[in-house]
Formats: sequence, structure tokens, C-alpha cells
Amino acid sequence: MTQLLGVALRGTGSYLPARVVTNDEFTEVLNLDTSDEWIRTRTGIRERRYAGQGETSATLGAAAGRLAIETAGLTPADIDLIVCATVTPDLMCPSTANLIQAELGCGHIPAFDITAACSGFLYALSVGTQFVRTGAARHALVVGAEVLTRILDFTDRNSCILFGDGAGAVVLSATPVINTGVRMIRLYSDGSRQELIQVPSRVTPNPPPGPPQLQRLDYMRLSGREVFRFAVTRMVELIEQAEIDARELGLTGIDALIPHQVNQRIIDAALESSGFPAHKVVVNLSKYGNTSAASVPIALDEALRTGRCKPGDTVLLVAFGGGLTWSSALVTL
Ligand code: UT7
Repeated sequence: MTQLLGVALRGTGSYLPARVVTNDEFTEVLNLDTSDEWIRTRTGIRERRYAGQGETSATLGAAAGRLAIETAGLTPADIDLIVCATVTPDLMCPSTANLIQAELGCGHIPAFDITAACSGFLYALSVGTQFVRTGAARHALVVGAEVLTRILDFTDRNSCILFGDGAGAVVLSATPVINTGVRMIRLYSDGSRQELIQVPSRVTPNPPPGPPQLQRLDYMRLSGREVFRFAVTRMVELIEQAEIDARELGLTGIDALIPHQVNQRIIDAALESSGFPAHKVVVNLSKYGNTSAASVPIALDEALRTGRCKPGDTVLLVAFGGGLTWSSALVTL
């Protein structure tokens, strides 16, 4: 019988592109009918980062992964699995994880992508955890990397103001101590609500007629108001379930909540309904906007580097997005 192992979060890393885009750029450069005041008060976002020439999900993900491996005190040769969550892969084939493996100079290890939109990192964390827990991998690199600004419709003020580019990563390592690291992961989906967030591609079932080069099928389409309501409801459920899980696992409590960085009003509404203490919530969306699969690992890495979270803390990670998908993880750092 396989002896199950503990799965420790041994290192974290993140990478944000250098270019800062303020809310004013949408009015001053793109002539969009919006304002800094509307964006700040309706979302909490003040600025976000845009990937530059030559930067892709793979280059951002490799930079975040390199830092996570260094922080873990390991080298790329120690990594024996890469799972990358992204909805903005460099290519349809090969996977972004393959490109990261080559960029980092890892060995001939399994490397593949996961698609679960803004829940992608927690889905990838779950896969990495299963490999490490069963002994199939000793050190797994789990990455969330996105260049969402490459698929935005910059004429749609409902969506284009929300998103930014970035990447975050963690190294999961096997440990004989079972009661540490990743304690519980919960994943959910509801494909019947697929139309609320979509990024159609060339392999869409109903491509419009006409030459492909004239079509922009890959723009993100978003029903923001409906997603807002879904996000609040699911975030409340995930927090309440995690509080039960934490008690059943014998944990003394949840020291911090790191939610998907989507909209300050979504987070505030969920805190009000669940009663979860606001001072325990890590929020950085004013600086980066919504970076989809990258948002939770970026916030986790920043929280550790700034001392906002520290080794030994139990942290609740929560995410929700296209699919629809929603997910949570209870992790002792
Ligand atoms: O991670 C998962 C993906 N993320 C999301 O799906 C985002 C979730 N949703 C949201 O964050 C919010 O719903 C939005 C920020 C997208 C919109 O905020 P809202 O408070 O739900 O606004 P709304 O959609 O109810 O629209 C209110 C008004 C509308 O005008 P009318 O119809 O009342 O005249 C919109 O056209 O605000 C207008 N509006 C804007 N006005 C200025 C929408 N976007 C903008 C804008 N600037 N950028």
C-alpha cells in the first residue's frame, strides 16, 4: 500500500511585468467612456501591469517559477513535475508548462497545463498535491501565469479595465510530516453557466464565416454583473466550508484569507455575509487588477515576502471564475 506523504509549500515566487497601466490610460489613451473614479469605486483597482514585447505566460511563469525554486533552496534539476494553470497559453500546442520546463532547464519531467480560468491555480495545486502525496513526485512546481491583456476587447469598458498580466508559483515538496502544508482542497464546477465568461477560439463549434485573419475570436466575453453575484455566493460558501474543515482537522483557526483578486466589492460583500474578519484578508488588486490564475499565487508570494503571512500560519486560498469554477485550499505555510 502506498504510504501517503505530507505536502509542504517549500517556496513561492511571483513575477509582474514592468509596465504599469493606470486607470487614466483608458480615458486618455484609449478614449474609453470610463473614469479613474468609476474604476476605483466599483472595483478597487488603481493600476495593473501589462506584459511587454517578448513577454508571454511562459516567460512570466518561468520567472515566477525560478524564484520559487530558489526560495525553496532547490535547483531546476530537483523539480520532477510542472503543472501550469493558464487560459492564455503561448500556443495551443505545446503546453506552457513544456515551455517553462525548457526555459528553466529542468530534466525530462512531466509538464502539462490545466485550464480552470481564475480557479486554475487551485486546480493545479490539487494535481501537484496528488503527485507529491503519493510519492509520484518529490518536488512539484505549480504555476499560475497569464497575459490576459492580449485577449481583451479594448472597446468594452465592462471588461478591459479589470485585468492585468502576471505569474505566481509554488514548489510543493514531500515531507514525512502529514499534518502540514496542503491540508484540504475543494474543487467545483458548473458548466451549465459556461456563457458567463468565455474566450472563443478558432476551434469554436460555430466559427463565423469569412477568412480567419479578419476574425478576432479570442476576445474575452464577460457578463460581469452575473459573475459578481455568483462570486459572492460561492465565496461565502467556500469560507463557511473551510471554517468547518479547519475545525475538523483540529486547526486552531484560519490566520489569513487570500481570495482571488477580482473586485474589492465582491470581497467586501462575501466578508459581510460570512462574518470572516476583514483584517485577516490579503488584498493587492489595487496594484495588479485581476490576473486570473496568477492572482492567488502572486498574493500568497507577496504576503510571505512582506511578512503579512509567516511560516506556521494556516491560510485559506479561495478562487472562482470561468467554467464556472470555484475552489479553495487550506494550507499551513
Ligand atoms: O474573475 C472572474 C472574472 N471577473 C469578473 O467577471 C468581474 C466580476 N464583475 C465585476 O467586477 C463587476 O460586475 C463589474 C466591475 C464588471 C461591473 O460593476 P457593476 O457594479 O456590477 O456594474 P454594472 O455591470 O451593474 O453596470 C453599472 C453601470 C452600467 O451603466 P448603466 O447601464 O447603468 O447606464 C455600465 O454600462 O456601469 C456602467 N459601466 C461603466 N461605467 C464606466 C460598466 N463598466 C464601466 C466602466 N466605466 N468601466
